Parts: sequence; structure tokens; C-alpha cells
Amino acid sequence: MKCRVCGEECAPFMSFGKMPLANGFLTENDIEKEYFYELSPVFCNNCKTFQIESQPEPEAMFHDEYAFFSRTSERMKEHFNKYSSWLKSTYLNQRTDPFIIEIGSNDGIFLENFAKEGIKHLGIEPSGNVAEEARKHGVNTVVEFFTESLSSEIKEKHGEADIICAANVMCHIPDLNEIGKNANILLKANGLLIFEDPYLGSMIEKTSYDQIYDEHVYIFSAIAVSKIFAAHGFELIDTIQLETHGGSMRYVLGRKGKWDINDRLIKTLQKEKELGLDSPKTYDLFRKSCEESKERLRKALQLEKINGRRVVGYGATSKSTTILNYCEIGSELIDYISDTTPIKQGKLTPGMHIPVKAYSEFCNEHPDTAILFAWNHRKEIMEKEKEFTSSGRKWLSPI
Ligand code: SAH
Ligand code: TYD
Ligand code: ZN
Repeated sequence: MKCRVCGEECAPFMSFGKMPLANGFLTENDIEKEYFYELSPVFCNNCKTFQIESQPEPEAMFHDEYAFFSRTSERMKEHFNKYSSWLKSTYLNQRTDPFIIEIGSNDGIFLENFAKEGIKHLGIEPSGNVAEEARKHGVNTVVEFFTESLSSEIKEKHGEADIICAANVMCHIPDLNEIGKNANILLKANGLLIFEDPYLGSMIEKTSYDQIYDEHVYIFSAIAVSKIFAAHGFELIDTIQLETHGGSMRYVLGRKGKWDINDRLIKTLQKEKELGLDSPKTYDLFRKSCEESKERLRKALQLEKINGRRVVGYGATSKSTTILNYCEIGSELIDYISDTTPIKQGKLTPGMHIPVKAYSEFCNEHPDTAILFAWNHRKEIMEKEKEFTSSGRKWLSPI
């Protein structure tokens, strides 16, 4: 394939096989027309970007029945609340009548912290159902993808922005050169582009290959981000390591030469070199680690079965779609998956068709073993499930 960022020729270093849409929860009637694509990660040795070879059309993933609501996690609410305080004190408070834009604002979990204080804001969110939820929380939202024409329209109607933010969505957007152009259209001369996403360094360290699925067309490193946006006149000025989504990184970019470079960024770049994030060898090792992880998980689940223990899944995450399909785990090994999101309940998981049930089911009939697919919310879940844990029941981690 041609690298989406720099156009250089590059090839996948492994394949996870045929994959359905990670959030494509479905009913029995939909099984026949279920969509599959080949999930193969690629490392571009020219611009150092980690990406997947083919991605389904955005409209197939983001629509009026989008299954991911950010508000399902209390900790993520806290995270976005703290993030907004940091942003206000670091970059916004000294500005008069600042304007903040968020790409992929979902149900308004982040922007509501600005809406409440009457700060000028706008969310850009193509999935109609989650955008509607955001509006209920007083968040101004346009239901559209973040395109060049929308950027010009917003500039005309609302003026230039002080900050463009994005959380867990930049990695969803295939054409990052368009994002660079849009940022140049929309941002003031002293404006900032700030985004956070699952971090390649964490994925390599933990072999958390479940971060790789259709929506995540990229898994970023600071090395890659600085190259991608340099082409559009932006300079990476800071990086902040985060615990969210199993290990994320926040990237702060300003126009070249306008800002001091934070020491944290220098340390991040050094660490990335040490980890070998810029070297194809690292990805060969990663492939082997994925294969080992698959074997380990399959054996652990087979042992539970042999010992007559009933296993259920905890959290029907997008990430679990990669694990279940790559490891070929279906309802012969996992009875059902419990999830608190109403739109997922009563449906089947993508590809492997394990039933998704309401959380009340898990509470009522406590299985022997729970496999924690929402492992990135471990702290929050362990606090909630003290009774399950103390009764001698078992947790399995897929990662
Ligand atoms: N920011 C939230 C939601 C992340 S999920 C959080 O961190 O929890 C990603 C969101 O981005 C989805 O709601 C999806 O509909 C939206 N999205 C996907 N592609 C987009 C694009 N090109 N422009 C704007 N939003 C997009
Ligand atoms: P998450 O890991 O945030 O994202 P992704 O889908 O991107 O991998 O998804 C968490 C899922 O787990 C979501 O469907 C809600 C569910 N969940 C529970 O069922 N119980 C909980 O206590 C929490 C925190 C999440
Ligand atoms: Zn490239």
C-alpha cells in the first residue's frame, strides 16, 4: 500500500485475519449481511507512522446508531473534567472570549465543562445519536465530519478558534493532511491543536494489540505526530502521558517557532527511540508477542471449560472485537458479555456472535470467571466489583 501520510510504499507486517466492524453489534437477522475486511497493521519506515492497511468507509462506522457513548465511564468524566481545568489554566484563561472547537465530541463529555461556564465552544460530531445526547447537556454540536468545507463554514460563521481539541478521534481520521489544512483554516495565529489518543509506546510495551481495529486507522507516537504535522507548519511542543484507554498520549501543537518546547517532549522522544518505535524490528517482535498472547488466552479459556467453570465477558468493548475474532473465541468458550450500554444489550458481538447482556444479568447470577475486556477501566471496575472478587471468583485478563 501507499502510506496515507507520506505516500511511500509500505507493506503489512502481520494480519489479524478477517474482521467485522469493531462496534458492529448485530441481531440474528443481520448476520447474513455482516461486513468483513482484512485487518493488517503496517509500519511506514519513512514517516514512522503505524497504520492499518484498509479501513471501512467512515459512514459505515459513524452514524445515527453509533454504539460508543463516552459517558459510560465515571472515570472518563473525571478525566475530561480535569483536562478542561488544565486547558483553561494553561492556555485559555489569559485570552479574551476564547473559542474552543472539539472534533469527535460524542455525547459532550468534554465540552460540557466549557458550556457550563458560558465559554464559546463548538463540537463536531458525525454520529447523530451521540450528538443529540451532547445537545441535552447544553453542548453546541454540528452533526458532520470535520472537513475542509465545514472548516471554512465555521470560520465564516463563528470566527477563528483559539484551540482545536480532539480525544480518541484523530487516530480515526484517514486523511491527516486534510486535518492539517483544516487547522490552518480555523486556528488563530497563536491557536493550538491538542489531541490525545491511545499511545503506540503503551501498545508495544503491553502487547495490547486490541487497540488495533477498524476505527483506529493510526496508533500514534510522538515521532510520527511531529513529522505528520510539520508538513503543515505545526510544531509539536509538548506531550503528556495519560492512563486513559490503557495508555494514551496527549500531543500539543502550535505554529512553528511560536512556542517553547517542553522538556517532557524531549524525554518522550528519547524514550521512543529506546523502545525502538522508529524501527521495523520492533514490529516483528510485536507480531510474535501477539501470537503468544493468542495462544495463552485460548489455553486459559479452554482450561476453564475443562474444569467446568462458566466464563462470561465484562465490557463489550470495540477492543474485544479484535481479541475475539483474532483468537477465534465464541460462545463455546464465553457464555455472554455483560455491558452497561443499552444499545449493545440484546445484540450479538461482531463476528463471533456472543450474546451481549445487561449488567443486571452479571449481578444476578455471578459466573465463576469474568474475562475483563474493559481492562482499561480496571480501577473503576475493581472498585465496583469487590463482592465478586472477594467471593473467590476469578478475573482473567485478555491482555
Ligand atoms: N471524544 C470522545 C469520543 C471518542 S469516539 C471520547 O474521547 O470519549 C470518536 C468519536 O469521533 C465518535 O463519536 C465519532 O462519531 C467521531 N468521529 C469519527 N470520525 C470523525 C471525523 N472525521 N470528524 C469528526 N468526528 C468524527
Ligand atoms: P471502552 O473501553 O471505553 O472503549 P472501546 O469500546 O473504545 O474499547 O468501552 C468500555 C465498554 O465497557 C463500554 O461498552 C461500557 C462497558 N463498561 C461496563 O460494562 N461496565 C463498566 O463499569 C465500564 C467502566 C464500562
Ligand atoms: Zn509514511
